[in-house]
Amino acid sequence: MRARRRIHNLVLTGFMGTGKSSVGRMAAALLHFRYVDTDALIESRAGKSIPEIFTTEGEAGFRQREREAVGELRTCRRTVIATGGGLVTDPASVESLREHAVVVCLWASPETIFERTRHTSHRPLLRQADPLGAIRRLLAERDPFYRRADVLINTELRSTREVTQQVLKAFHLAVKSGL
Ligand code: S3P
Repeated sequence: MRARRRIHNLVLTGFMGTGKSSVGRMAAALLHFRYVDTDALIESRAGKSIPEIFTTEGEAGFRQREREAVGELRTCRRTVIATGGGLVTDPASVESLREHAVVVCLWASPETIFERTRHTSHRPLLRQADPLGAIRRLLAERDPFYRRADVLINTELRSTREVTQQVLKAFHLAVKSGL
């Protein structure tokens, strides 16, 4: 049987470059909530950066660390949690987050994601000869997982503030209607 949901927190999911961190920080400030980023939590527990974890432990090692981080988050209260883009591919992790949080997924097109990430270098999965191709492929593979969120928000042509306002609306509605 599925555990009953008690909404204490707000979780942001979505592909790399959809704005989870900037929206998450702004939402946390406006709600007077704490802000936690699963990647930062993993890095602090591991004492290594995400690229180092991928190099030394592989993607499987990183995903295991993501599951452990999700376990730690179960006791969070009044927290906005921004997740790494691939965390949703583990259904048990998403179920665990849904027990205590509203799950909001941010969406953007492959082209927009490419534009937003092309000058960054900290994402091992995009360090490829054809990053746009990798984005298209991964986004298509993960699409059914992202769609399992409580709410899906399109970030195309919207500022961080506009997206944050939509996220907060969804959060308040979910809390009020008692998901
Ligand atoms: C990943 C996304 C990254 C980070 C890691 C893997 C993914 O987080 O967790 O590089 O699989 O999509 P962001 O979505 O915050 O960039």
